[in-house]
Amino acid sequence: GGGAAPRGAPPPETVVRDILAEKKQHLRGLFLAMPDGVAVFGRDRVIDETNTALCELLGVPLSRLRGATQREFVHWLYRGRRAARQAGRAEQLLAELDRAEPAGEFAGIVEFDMAVSPAYEVRIVHAASGGGLVLVLRDVTTQLRHDRMKSHFVSAAAHELKAPVAGIAGYAELLSADVVPLERRSGIYHAIHARAGQLNALLSDLLDLARIEARSSGMLERERVEVATLVRETVAGEFAEAGRVRVIDAGVPLHVLADRAQLTQAVRNLIENALKYSDGKDEVTVTVEPLPLEQEKVSVRVEDRGIGMTKEEAGMAFDNFYRANRQGNATGNGLGLAIVREIVAVHQGQITLASEIGKGTVVTLSLPAAT
Ligand SMILES: Nc1ncnc2c1ncn2[C@@H]1O[C@H](COP(=O)(O)OP(=O)(O)O)[C@@H](O)[C@H]1O
Ligand SMILES: [Mg+2]
Repeated sequence: GGGAAPRGAPPPETVVRDILAEKKQHLRGLFLAMPDGVAVFGRDRVIDETNTALCELLGVPLSRLRGATQREFVHWLYRGRRAARQAGRAEQLLAELDRAEPAGEFAGIVEFDMAVSPAYEVRIVHAASGGGLVLVLRDVTTQLRHDRMKSHFVSAAAHELKAPVAGIAGYAELLSADVVPLERRSGIYHAIHARAGQLNALLSDLLDLARIEARSSGMLERERVEVATLVRETVAGEFAEAGRVRVIDAGVPLHVLADRAQLTQAVRNLIENALKYSDGKDEVTVTVEPLPLEQEKVSVRVEDRGIGMTKEEAGMAFDNFYRANRQGNATGNGLGLAIVREIVAVHQGQITLASEIGKGTVVTLSLPAAT
């Protein structure tokens, strides 16, 4: 060989060993810190290394995971549950793990066909020349649920938008065909205008909902709001004409920390429903008070003696686009209570609805009191 290492300096193999040891430490740190479950299967196809994330995902202690076979791993993952999709079956995963020839990277979703069951993403990276494999397991339950809700929401929204758009297109076509007598045209203009109004209302509700959902509770523009004052201002500003909304307060100021515009909107939507789904002669009462059993909460209770809802309808009232629709003339897009639901959620509040057919409805919204 060439020149010897200078006296005093460590021999090259020691340097290499140190570097390797350091690298190994880094990898180990990465491994342990990873939120995903990881298992390294060695040449002998049993688990060589694993992390606590995997223990938690599988509910199996580290001591049992180390040295476990592929079959044991798959057993712990499935626990007798049947996969919801063909591609995520246990045998499939075992075959993938068992591959003699390394096959690059495999990624798949394992879901079970039960109502409340987790979903996992499994990634497998085979080492070259049969030198074992690395398996990464991630819980994607909430992510999948969220994705599905989102796409469901988008298709429901598109469906709702279709009816008024189709109406407008139809009337416009009629007019452009030039077959409508003059005296009937104004009715058609009205119908077009009404549908445009519907579209407008729907779009602005959709935007509101998106805006509220996008703003997590930490990003709210919170200020100290005296609730009875806000309710009175809302009634005076928007429902004075109806003349049938009575506000009852506790006689003492009750403050919450809230986004003023959002809280106003929630109160408005509740009063709007109480008026809309009750007889024009009946009074609607809005009571602001501390919750009787939980003094640290302020509640707003909106009561009407209107048409009420069945238990089933009441259970769906907060769903996006839901309308009970027994009263043919009432219009709405079914987003009012969904918006209230979101506003209450970002304010860490609660909302309850009690209703009885033909008797009336009581909606109670409560928020943490501001000290
Ligand atoms: N105070 C109430 N009395 C009776 N039914 C109500 C009341 N509030 C809401 N509902 C029912 O719940 C449904 C959803 O309400 P909401 O989300 O505000 O939608 P919208 O008022 O636009 O129809 C309404 O269509 C109605 O059937
Ligand atoms: Mg409504």
